[in-house]
Amino acid sequence: MKRTIVTLPGDGIGKIVLSETLRVLDAAAFQAEYVEGDIGWEFWCSEGNPLPQRTIDLIEKHKVGLFGAITSKPKDDAANELTSDLRDKGYVYKSPIVALRQHFNMDICLRPCRTYKSNPLNFIYRGANGKPVEPLVDVAVFRQNTEGLYGGVEWSNPPDIVYEALMTHPQFVKNFGKVPKEELSVSTRIFTRKATERILRAAFEHARKYKYRSVTVCEKPNVIRETSGIMYKMAQQMQKRDFPEIELWNTNIDAQMMWLTKNPDNYGVIVAGNMFGDIISDGFAGLIGGLGFACSAQMSESGVALFEPTHGSAPKYAEYETPIVNPIAMIESACMMLDYLGEDTIAKKIRGAIATVIEEGKVRTYDMMKMAGRQDVVEKGAASTIQMTEAIIGKL
Ligand code: NAI
Ligand code: MG
Repeated sequence: MKRTIVTLPGDGIGKIVLSETLRVLDAAAFQAEYVEGDIGWEFWCSEGNPLPQRTIDLIEKHKVGLFGAITSKPKDDAANELTSDLRDKGYVYKSPIVALRQHFNMDICLRPCRTYKSNPLNFIYRGANGKPVEPLVDVAVFRQNTEGLYGGVEWSNPPDIVYEALMTHPQFVKNFGKVPKEELSVSTRIFTRKATERILRAAFEHARKYKYRSVTVCEKPNVIRETSGIMYKMAQQMQKRDFPEIELWNTNIDAQMMWLTKNPDNYGVIVAGNMFGDIISDGFAGLIGGLGFACSAQMSESGVALFEPTHGSAPKYAEYETPIVNPIAMIESACMMLDYLGEDTIAKKIRGAIATVIEEGKVRTYDMMKMAGRQDVVEKGAASTIQMTEAIIGKL
């Protein structure tokens, strides 16, 4: 039986990189049928909803999706672009990717950052002997995706009952007890045992499966004692009980950012809460080529999983007659889908083809040539999106 994959091209360059990625999957002989889900700006404008229920139903049914990128705009701009019959009817724009994450409770986010040899965008530093060193980064960041500082539980001028509850905490009384309530803004950082256990276990299991030496909890338990503290404590117990062959390391997010450029090749799996995971994964992605290379997966307990590049819809590039953006982040995201589906051989083949193209260095998109993104980059020697895809297909 053939698998069905839901494709969610979305907006702008999302459409371009996703259609190129499907060509690579076909060329690598991945057996699947694809159904396209409506998502993005077009559906906001014409239906007042960028994530129609029929799309949610499709994902619920088939579970696995490839997502390009969507465009989000500020509230007023969004309202103005609705078709005239939908205007002033109370439609409020909400990012469909955030809505999907919440609807399917996709609490586990994985962002791998792996160096491709000879990528001109690789991070280089000066070694002890003064010679340049190009570290081979191979880090998998596990980010808790639904809780913490992005949980949305926050107030300015909090309601009385919240204020009264806060006033029961001695530290609050000491530090903020004299501040007028109207002058307070509060954002909570809530961790639950269940979600913390799930993200930690996912990180350890990944380390075991892919033979990483260590799992690093990157938080700040010495200061944020309850949430960071619980995560580290649970990690210690889990490591001892279930993963004794894997080393457990503990870094503080601030120090980790400082060390980012000192010894990035020392780290393996890194696990963190929502905000610190977001920060640390962007940090590592910068060392391996940035947005043209950064891929990600979002996964839920119920088996729904979406694979997507970290980049957005880059609207200005979507208009170009010859597309110039780098498709590798999206193709890599599809490789993560293949890993998830147990199609290891096909994933390996595609990653090998990408590695060969990069190492040969003959075909490079504009970002890899450090050019400013403009329509004329192809005339100046950069590969177009399509040329890059064909080069990868050629190496399969
Ligand atoms: P963006 O990621 O779309 O583009 C930022 C810049 O990064 C581009 O101008 C380009 O220079 C570079 N870039 C992005 N993708 C690239 C690729 N594949 N190859 C080469 N260079 C690439 O972020 P921006 O401009 O902040 O946002 C544009 C729109 O995308 C907004 O509407 C934003 O809300 C949305 N967005 C959507 C995301 C998603 O769908 N997950 C994530 C981030 C932004
Ligand atoms: Mg981010």
